Amino acid sequence: MSQTQRDTWTTRVGFILAAVGSAVGLGNVWQFPFQTGANGGAAFIVVYLVAVFLIGFPAMLAEFVVGRRAERNPIDAFVRLGHRNWRIVGVLGTISAFWILSFYSVVGGWVIRYILGSARGSYFSGSEAYFGSISAGPEAIFFHAVFMALVIGVVAFGISGGIERSTKLMVPSIVLLLGGLAVWASTLDGGAAGYVYYLSPDVSALRANIWTILPAAVGQAFFTLSLGMGAMITYASYLGRDDSLPADGATIVVLNTLVGLLAGLVVFPILFSLGVEPGSGGLGAAFITLAGAFAQLPGGRILGVAFFVVLLLAALSSAISLLEVVTSYLADNTDVSRPRIAVGLGAAIFALGIPSAFGLSILGWYNAIAYNLLLPLSVLCLLLFVGWVDAGDAVTELRRGTGLSESSALAWLWFVRTIVPLGVLVTLLLGLQTLAVDAGLLANPVV
Ligand code: PFF
Repeated sequence: MSQTQRDTWTTRVGFILAAVGSAVGLGNVWQFPFQTGANGGAAFIVVYLVAVFLIGFPAMLAEFVVGRRAERNPIDAFVRLGHRNWRIVGVLGTISAFWILSFYSVVGGWVIRYILGSARGSYFSGSEAYFGSISAGPEAIFFHAVFMALVIGVVAFGISGGIERSTKLMVPSIVLLLGGLAVWASTLDGGAAGYVYYLSPDVSALRANIWTILPAAVGQAFFTLSLGMGAMITYASYLGRDDSLPADGATIVVLNTLVGLLAGLVVFPILFSLGVEPGSGGLGAAFITLAGAFAQLPGGRILGVAFFVVLLLAALSSAISLLEVVTSYLADNTDVSRPRIAVGLGAAIFALGIPSAFGLSILGWYNAIAYNLLLPLSVLCLLLFVGWVDAGDAVTELRRGTGLSESSALAWLWFVRTIVPLGVLVTLLLGLQTLAVDAGLLANPVV
């Protein structure tokens, strides 16, 4: 193991903002509003909030507990805690981070392309054709490389000098820009119909599709909170201090949720003021539907630039947490310098992502593997470890630096042992079913 001193966050706010930066990403600004619109509006938000607070939040604390106690990367953390065999959980998380970043970066590349395209009005004459032309092929690969270079640039500077410093700028900028866009969107004629669509509960839509919506809400809760990829274990491993994990976790979860809600307040008034159907979301939602709307609005270029800058900052601050997961393993275990590790790993992840820059169906396949298999499996294993193997020490760690009563900590443990893994298990089984149907192994879904 390398003998060099490990870097740490310089302030509590620094850690919180870095974790919020990881959590707030494409999932909030692009996926969440459309998922809400398509699944019953406010009724879906209620289900989602329950999933975030009852399942995502306890799981996040489980990752924090492991990370802070071990002060190591996700793989060595389990060895340090005295459970060598369980390092497979860390391996799974680290592989997931590697895998997800490879195609997340391709989408990040599109976003950079769209900032330039908005400034020039390149997609104004046909947003669908434009998306088709830049989302796959050499141009997509080039911007995938640019995005990855930015991510490497931040991670190379380390925790306090790179990630903390940059996310302290990025996260407030995201909130300010998005807030400004929401205020502007509220002034649009006909935009009010967007709020109705977004925020009025449609309980019958929810009830009719509850078995697809429930796992979608749980899956989205994990994805948006950056769980299952070792990111929160890694970030907590640099804490080196005794702040309250539940308080920090709650702040992160609330801020992340508010950014998602705010994004909806931007997207829907814009679409409805132009009479555009939001559709069911998916890859085209931001890049075709919304971009098409910018093309028709006065000041559309500036709007487009502002929106896609928000999307870029959100994607970037999430992507750096993924590269940090993998980087931390080599930084903890070798004497190779951090910048070299970041460049080497970044290049390998870039190479892995290249196939997904050749076509949307390949990218969708990468995503399906991550979402339906890697993520829930990795979270499930972590929960079993914290809840059943490491329970006593985990409870003590959770209470460190807090006035948390023993009974509250035990309530958390009870959640981590039962409800949360059960929720994840159902999500995993349904996810496997989706994969089986897609692969043609199963003709129709069983549930
Ligand atoms: N939370 C990010 C989003 O909502 O887009 C995605 C993500 C980032 C997931 C980092 C996992 C992770 F480790």
